[in-house]
Amino acid sequence: MECHKVNMQTLEATAKMMVADGKGLLAIDESTETCNKRFAKWGIPQTAESHRLYRELIVNTPGLSESISGAILYDETIRQEMNDRIPFAEALAARGIIPGIKVDLGAKEMAAFPGEKVTEGLDGLRARLAEYAQMGARFAKWRAVFAIGDRTPSHGCVEANAHALARYAALCQEAGLVPVVEPEVLMEGSHTLDMCSEVTERVLRSVFRELYAQRVKLEGMILKPNMVLPGVTCPVQESVEEVADATVGCLLRSVPAAVPGVVFLSGGQSGELASARLNAMNVRHKSRLPWELSFSFGRAIQEPALEIWHGNQANVIPAQKALYHRAKCDRAAHRGEYSA
Ligand code: 13P
Repeated sequence: MECHKVNMQTLEATAKMMVADGKGLLAIDESTETCNKRFAKWGIPQTAESHRLYRELIVNTPGLSESISGAILYDETIRQEMNDRIPFAEALAARGIIPGIKVDLGAKEMAAFPGEKVTEGLDGLRARLAEYAQMGARFAKWRAVFAIGDRTPSHGCVEANAHALARYAALCQEAGLVPVVEPEVLMEGSHTLDMCSEVTERVLRSVFRELYAQRVKLEGMILKPNMVLPGVTCPVQESVEEVADATVGCLLRSVPAAVPGVVFLSGGQSGELASARLNAMNVRHKSRLPWELSFSFGRAIQEPALEIWHGNQANVIPAQKALYHRAKCDRAAHRGEYSA
């Protein structure tokens, strides 16, 4: 019992630290498949060594910890070493960045629900979490995806994914890792902003119902949702302010105040738009927010740096400058001080 209590205090302290001081998370946890897809776009070799070189560039960015509190690694990376033979998790910690790890095994086709996906990875998760904790990880991430279509996401798909997220979160807390709970409503499609808001609210309500049922302590977790956006091919594209208002309204209706931090995924938005929208939420609504509203961006922080790097080590310094810049913009957005 005492042990459990101390564990929870550590979890709460870590969760708070992840969103303190205007900082946010950096997602560099692309699976091998996703990383290769992004590298292929720029003709970068798709090998474990080029993944390692790219992640080394990111972790070695001077001043990164001014804006980034924690970084999410992928299984391949947490088992790799920096050029100086220091393992990645240790290198992050030495730079003042909390190491995290993606632990889901991907969103797979859901049986009996054509076109919908359920995230896998619960079997054997307790042992995997123990190993990651031993390797230095202090938080974990699990992503569920929901596509908006004619009749989707279905009740069955939402419930199955919410249940898995809650089972994962409970196992994380048992292992002393802060769960980053990521239900992502995708922005692909022609749906309206109102539809995204309705679906996001339905998903979040279901996720928190399951988290409660599985006895997850909300003070010791972080929520990583999508922003409420119109589909990319929707003819009406709302302003930055309208997106900010819709997103904050949706979260206020569905996310309990005990959660210390809400960190958005970027989901394919440009770096500038993601920063501007997060900034508008904090400028317009700061006084009504019970949780920190921050970021856990992958593409919105990395994209310019990846393009500049292009797989060429001669470009490391300008690529790091671009990465540093986007991270700094996002810290400003968390503080409501961003200007493009
Ligand atoms: P994006 O910000 O590129 O959506 O990535 C965040 C993430 O971690 C997705 O799981």
